[in-house]
Amino acid sequence: MRVDVVLGLQWGDEGKGKVVDVLAHSYEVVARFQGGPNAGHTLYWQGKKIVLHQIPAGIFHPHVTCLVGDGCVIDPGILKRELLAISELGLGWEGRFFLGRNAHLILPTHKVLDKLSGGHIGTTQRGIGPAYADRYARRGIPIFWLHRSDFESQVRHLAAMHAIPPAEVASWEDFWEGVEFLRKVPQVETPRWLSGHSQVLAEGSQGSLLDIFWGTYPYVTSSHTTIAGVVAGLGVAPQKIRRVYGVLKAYTTRVGEGPFPTEIRGLLARWMQERGGEWGSTTGRLRRCGWLDLPTLQKTVYLNGVTDLILTKADVLCGIPELKVRIGGEDENPSYLSMTPWENLDSEAFYAYIRLIEKSLGVPLYAYSTGPEREAWRLFSDAEAAKNIS
Ligand code: IMP
Ligand code: MG
Repeated sequence: MRVDVVLGLQWGDEGKGKVVDVLAHSYEVVARFQGGPNAGHTLYWQGKKIVLHQIPAGIFHPHVTCLVGDGCVIDPGILKRELLAISELGLGWEGRFFLGRNAHLILPTHKVLDKLSGGHIGTTQRGIGPAYADRYARRGIPIFWLHRSDFESQVRHLAAMHAIPPAEVASWEDFWEGVEFLRKVPQVETPRWLSGHSQVLAEGSQGSLLDIFWGTYPYVTSSHTTIAGVVAGLGVAPQKIRRVYGVLKAYTTRVGEGPFPTEIRGLLARWMQERGGEWGSTTGRLRRCGWLDLPTLQKTVYLNGVTDLILTKADVLCGIPELKVRIGGEDENPSYLSMTPWENLDSEAFYAYIRLIEKSLGVPLYAYSTGPEREAWRLFSDAEAAKNIS
């Protein structure tokens, strides 16, 4: 068995969903290792825009088996609806969709707690933080308990500890229906199950700067979005990990509160928001926008042991009137390099941008995305070869 990993190097929304969708065809298994329905992986399949919150983006390849790994937290209602939607698209998932038995459940009361306490962080209010908090307080509900006779009383016991007035809870019905559905989804002992497969792609959600330890605490999510999350969340030994694809967007975005050294406002930020469709795919919030931040990326590249870079959304910047990249300075006082903007992705100016990124991060660019669809994708080696010929 070998494991390759796709990770976001910024604050999420780097385009990991699309990247996983493109890479998935050469893997047997695609596995999410952390997070829950706070994720929003947007991809285009047969002309339709689809946003996945819980299911790995590999699901659109009929030969690929998908796993929601043990490091994840699961909202049963959301997962049920997402699986039914996949069926409606005519994609069967039976026999190729599994759950890691140690993943935990998100209760309706977790969502209320998130609304009450997550405001200053700007969370997605999906109950992620409170579900992980209970997991670490050793009072959470792992999904293998779904098959225990005292499951219902365990859930009620935990919910009672949350002390939420019943009127504030949106829907227990949705939860219990989801639970019924989830009971029929096969669960696996992940480390052993994975060892029976040869090519595994681990799919990250959120970005490295939202990691609970290594992100911009406390403005972070509640799981390990970095390489540590793969080892913990799927139970794979580090030696099994081969390629680590670090995904970066050609500019930077952040949803929610917290520091953002290269943030810009005004016309250029609006350009990025409009052309890049920069509003949250989970919450609909407008994403904050800014320039590429190389010193910060150096840290996340190092932290994750990135072996290959994948650049996304450079097409969004085509024709932008001004272009800058942070190359140094303190977070409070960043220093920038002004770059020549590009009109298209075949231009010298775009190659200069790539060279700067590769040189600064010390990692080669593997591929770049040229638009939202699966086909809009170029291997950098191909692009270079074509350029030498012409
Ligand atoms: P939580 O994960 O809902 O607890 O939110 C914590 C922080 O992470 C907030 O700033 C969210 O906006 C951010 N966040 C969570 N999931 C995503 C994501 O998938 N993309 C981008 N930001 C996210
Ligand atoms: Mg997203």
